[in-house]
Amino acid sequence: MAIYFRGMNPEETASLTRIMMTSGQVLNLSDIPGKKIDKHSTGGVGDKVSLILAPLVASAGVIVPMISGRGLGHTGGTLDKLESIPGFRTDLSLKEFKDSLLKIGLAMVGQTEEIAPADKKLYALRDVTATVDSIPLMASSIMSKKLAEGIDGLVLDVKTGSGAFMKGYEDSLKLARTMVETGTSLGVETVALITDMNQPLGRAVGNSLEVLEAIDVLKGGGPEDLVEITIELGAWMLRLAHGLDIEKGRGILMANIKNGDGLKKFKEMVSMQGGDTEVVVDSTHRVDRQELLPSSEIKRELRSKENGYIERIDAESVGIASMVLGAGRERVDSVIDHSAGIILMKKRGDSVRKEEPFAILYGREESMMEKAEELLLQAYKLSDTKPERTPLIKTIITKEDIVPLTGTEKT
Ligand code: URA
Repeated sequence: MAIYFRGMNPEETASLTRIMMTSGQVLNLSDIPGKKIDKHSTGGVGDKVSLILAPLVASAGVIVPMISGRGLGHTGGTLDKLESIPGFRTDLSLKEFKDSLLKIGLAMVGQTEEIAPADKKLYALRDVTATVDSIPLMASSIMSKKLAEGIDGLVLDVKTGSGAFMKGYEDSLKLARTMVETGTSLGVETVALITDMNQPLGRAVGNSLEVLEAIDVLKGGGPEDLVEITIELGAWMLRLAHGLDIEKGRGILMANIKNGDGLKKFKEMVSMQGGDTEVVVDSTHRVDRQELLPSSEIKRELRSKENGYIERIDAESVGIASMVLGAGRERVDSVIDHSAGIILMKKRGDSVRKEEPFAILYGREESMMEKAEELLLQAYKLSDTKPERTPLIKTIITKEDIVPLTGTEKT
């Protein structure tokens, strides 16, 4: 409670992070040759970046030991998305995790009880004392878990906007700076990209729908915003690993999408973790591959009531609509439906004609459809004029941007 009200200075934040990190197992990956770099996102709607990014960056020679979480509330989680692939296991043992890193340079798993147990207890305490919303406590909580992975570098995607955990830009900036400072002072080079989460990322929201969209990107297609953010985060991972120029990193990653190396790595990961690789069949078999993933029973198209341009798609409302359809968890113990979700056929800036479909809902029950439709209709706002493009990547914070504080200042 004292930290909540008074904040902590950088040294205090780093100390708390170190103590929580060493309260459990800190992975030692030194027997695996190569630089180990991970990415963490503070969470958003339609954020399936990890599914594309981890194999793509691994295909460029970086070791990616990714430990991810599950979705809660309006935001989705990487583990839930991966588990929509039939047979895919996210509960690898430490030995299996390391074997996978050695063989294919990549593994995507869930957090075990042994990683930062003190954070789990403190978080539960913060939850019941209304002290979750503290920047130094959030920074130390996130960083203690990431730094326990035994990584050499970390790229953070700090989301800002309606669908983000941190809605205001200034708060997102503070959180990003605090995490970069903490990681750097604990010996792991950390970079943060502050990115827009006012509208969902890409067009798919919901687990198996997002897996299909991620595969589309690895095949050279997919929505522009999703490709842009993935390439940018990946180029920073390559810079941390090999000191590569950002432009050069972008080129390597785009080439590995074109030549199929990223997709090949994704398939290798699915195979290593027990999943059905038929999900990744070539483009001429799109229908088959969709049939392999869980598919929903009811599909409803939403049509526009007027002509205009899409001015806004409130990400939080879309996230809640997707949760109502069964794609997300209202409580930690809710059971999710991997097939449920939403396809946004129109995104911000697109024109729409009266009666033209702008979104498709997938779910199991009509009552869920009604509620989700209502939320989605509220989420979309039309205007007569085309809105100006806003940048997707707002700010990049590196260790050079952190001005050392005097020691008494509070973050
Ligand atoms: N995510 C975490 O892991 N911890 C926080 O404190 C907030 C978000």
